[in-house]
Amino acid sequence: MADLQPPRGTHDVLPPASERFIALERLADEVFGQAGFGRIITPMFEDSALFDRGIGEQNEVVTKETYRFRDRGGNEVTLRPEGTAPVMRAIVSHHLWDEGLPIKVRYAAAMFRYERPQKGRVRQHHQVGIEAVGSDAPALDADIIGLAARFFDAAQVGGAALLLNSMGHLGCRAEYRELFVAALTPRAGSLSEDSQRRLAHNPLRIWDSKDPADQAVLADAPRLPDHLCSECSQHLEEVRGFLDDWGIAYTMSPGLVRGFDYYTRTTFEFQSQALDSAQNALGGGGRYDGLVESIGGPSLPGIGFGIGIERVLLAQDAAGNAAATEPLACFVVGVRDEDLPAAMRFVRAVRAEGVNADAAYATRGLKAQMKHANRLGARTVALIGADEAAADAVTLRDMTTGDQAMIPVVEAIRRLATKGPST
Ligand code: HAM
Repeated sequence: MADLQPPRGTHDVLPPASERFIALERLADEVFGQAGFGRIITPMFEDSALFDRGIGEQNEVVTKETYRFRDRGGNEVTLRPEGTAPVMRAIVSHHLWDEGLPIKVRYAAAMFRYERPQKGRVRQHHQVGIEAVGSDAPALDADIIGLAARFFDAAQVGGAALLLNSMGHLGCRAEYRELFVAALTPRAGSLSEDSQRRLAHNPLRIWDSKDPADQAVLADAPRLPDHLCSECSQHLEEVRGFLDDWGIAYTMSPGLVRGFDYYTRTTFEFQSQALDSAQNALGGGGRYDGLVESIGGPSLPGIGFGIGIERVLLAQDAAGNAAATEPLACFVVGVRDEDLPAAMRFVRAVRAEGVNADAAYATRGLKAQMKHANRLGARTVALIGADEAAADAVTLRDMTTGDQAMIPVVEAIRRLATKGPST
């Protein structure tokens, strides 16, 4: 039998690379948690009807990319392709509005889309994101965008350009859609095959096309921000006012329509300046003022974003900012078989002080254990042999300088602890 491999479009995340992955989840917890977003954990799969209603039955993610199947009980379920609709479902299931508005939640979760795998595009990706429901205040939109900007700054992605647009509310978007279709229909023959199909079902997605033929047609097509109603225009101006006030740079991008049908008003995307255009979207989001209602809840506006962890890791690599993982501070070596209990006690004691520490678990010869310590990149080796056992001491050897000294156990623990976890 051939070697078993992870399914196409999925990856194992192995240590130590996984430390960087987790560090990003921690960063999101910190940045979003600090701003009042509590963590929500929803199931990995939902009734398929949720995505039909929430994202749209005609939406290309729903029709072409979902992992959708009947379970053994005959229920139609779908692995979540994104986080927003499931979070809205949870809000409706638990009437979370009873506890006051806005409802603010954060998540870190795997998403599943049957896409053609390529660099930065996988079938199971991971997002950290936030959603805020129950307010349509422009200050909230700006705060949300600002939190994403802070995340990218702290993650050192080497520059993330912010693109901003407004899709208008459902009314002005519907009017614009008619205008757009009317303008493009006479030139439909010049559009790519994909865009001709979209013209019938999901015309605004044509803005997403990178095909030069489509770009030529779009060059003089009507643009959504020029056709917003006065309230939506005012809303956008206020969002921009806050961003300007905080010095957050952005580019107005009338073609930014995003991939889901639920978006209304503010939409935005952060693009990496270090990655190719096929995978440069690091994260994106926007308002979805009709979504909660469309899945059976009350009429509550909402806004949020999702950030792709795999993309952020790629951007960090491209920017040369792959944060180093914490090295091993201490490797504990028991010289003789009878030194093993003392060695294990010592490794547990220094770990309890917050020091990264490891041991060989068996006394297989001093040379083999020192080799092991070197392989792990330990900064210090703590040796326990006959002399140390007799004196209730350990010998601490600095692996960089080669300096070593025998000191009492209590003093050794204190010394390792004060040097910090990775020293
Ligand atoms: P999205 O733009 O589809 O939005 O995904 C968010 C981010 O997830 C993307 O910017 C990208 O970094 C990453 N991503 C998406 N698909 C893949 C893939 N196949 N492989 C690797 N990374 C991927 C949403 O999912 C919305 N739910 C965001 C949102 C939240 N809007 C409002 N609230």
